[in-house]
Amino acid sequence: MADKLIIFDTTLRDGEQSPGASMTRDEKVRIARQLERLKVDVIEAGFAAASPGDFESIKAIAAAVREPIICSLSRANDRDISRAAEALEKAQRKRIHTFIATSPLHMEMKLRMSPDQVLEQAIQAVRFARQFTDDVEFSPEDASRSDFDFLCRVIEAVIKEGATTINFADTVGYGVPELYGNTLKRLRETIPNSDKAIWSVHCHNDLGMAVANSLAGVMIGGARQVECTINGLGERAGNTALEEIVMAVRTRKDHFNLDIGIDTTQIVATSKMVSQITGFAVQPNKAIVGANAFAHASGIHQDGILKARNTYEIMRAEDVGWSANKIVLGKLSGRNAFKQRLQELGIALESETEVNAAFARFKDLADKKAEIFDEDIMAVVAEEEHSHDADHYRLVSISQHSETGERSSAVVVMTIGDREKSCIAQGNGAVDAIVNAIESEVKSEAELLLFSINAITAGTQSQGEVTIRLSKAGRIVNGVGADPDIVVASAKAYISALNKLHSKVEKLNPQI
Ligand code: KIV
Ligand code: ZN
Repeated sequence: MADKLIIFDTTLRDGEQSPGASMTRDEKVRIARQLERLKVDVIEAGFAAASPGDFESIKAIAAAVREPIICSLSRANDRDISRAAEALEKAQRKRIHTFIATSPLHMEMKLRMSPDQVLEQAIQAVRFARQFTDDVEFSPEDASRSDFDFLCRVIEAVIKEGATTINFADTVGYGVPELYGNTLKRLRETIPNSDKAIWSVHCHNDLGMAVANSLAGVMIGGARQVECTINGLGERAGNTALEEIVMAVRTRKDHFNLDIGIDTTQIVATSKMVSQITGFAVQPNKAIVGANAFAHASGIHQDGILKARNTYEIMRAEDVGWSANKIVLGKLSGRNAFKQRLQELGIALESETEVNAAFARFKDLADKKAEIFDEDIMAVVAEEEHSHDADHYRLVSISQHSETGERSSAVVVMTIGDREKSCIAQGNGAVDAIVNAIESEVKSEAELLLFSINAITAGTQSQGEVTIRLSKAGRIVNGVGADPDIVVASAKAYISALNKLHSKVEKLNPQI
């Protein structure tokens, strides 16, 4: 029988450490629910001690998501571990993941601790974590640059204390596949109690080898857990991409001979959700989830595909959740057809009220746009999930004028609390004018970090999806808005970001 490969998703923890990718609690719960539909085995929901916001997000996910194991990261100290345990209290199945650096460089320069002190702290941390759960993961941080004998001492000791998963972390993406896989193999062969734990790989993509290193860790090293993120999101060059690991293991089952529990048809929806919420666009040629991943432009390829798909396709687009960009609904479609399409897309709205609200937005869009694609429906739902009755700022209407050689002007009518305001300004182009108009009343003093526009579907009728990233007093937020009129989409995105800055429940950026 084939072994199972455990898929440990850390989009909400290591992925979020990517500068600018911070997510609100509600957004994290949405992603966690989608990860549950994707059937990942473990969700690392955050780092409880990093901020009150992270703590609340883990708590909310632990209460909302039942199937996967919910995990919190914690440094190797009692305070962090207690915080993780508290946040995980409601989880059906919980894991505490504790870590401490073991490389000479990190111990000396960062921790200013001797190897013996690090060893003792690792032992104490695992012993303490075991009081809260019997599922404890230990990561020697910067393991791939650690001294082999010292690593053996630390790992043997923490397994003795009850660590059930050992994560061989390539923290700075220094590993190369053969070496990384062989070191892991040697660790498992040398450490006498290595068979008492599941071995895990955790790779960063600084040299573009995170997926290759992870797979070498599995095939050569015998790891049976891969830590990864959707779209490879993560600090610097990112983490191992979940979709690439899953489809490599599934497509080349002949080679890997491992079982995975993932529902691959949910991959594209998950990728789009993460990209939309974080504002991190997916490059068109990205494996599996890039817009061109299954597009065949050359005549020879197209001819081959028409004769036999497997001439140029090693995977089927529909197996990872790509639909054929078909027109699915229109102006005359009813609520039932809309609801059924949501189901087919794997979108589960929480209540009938939410379905009604999303349907109203859909009708609104169908009035402006004749052809509604799956991607439009996803954007409509995302917008509905982003908006709250309690939003402080709301867009009422926009009037905007641009003329060659003239400065653009805009009038934005919006509500601020319970007052309606009409804001007028000029700007260097249409978007600048509407942002200036909004700011003439709001005076947020936020710094604009990112403004990006993406056409959701093909054609000039396409909705533009705008992401705006704002920063103020150490907080970074993303606002997203979609509309066939990109000026309106920009206003929606700007107002959505302002609402997040205004909301008190959001957290500081949780960098370790
Ligand atoms: O990269 C890393 O070392 C980590 C650990 C905390 C597992 O993310
Ligand atoms: Zn990491």
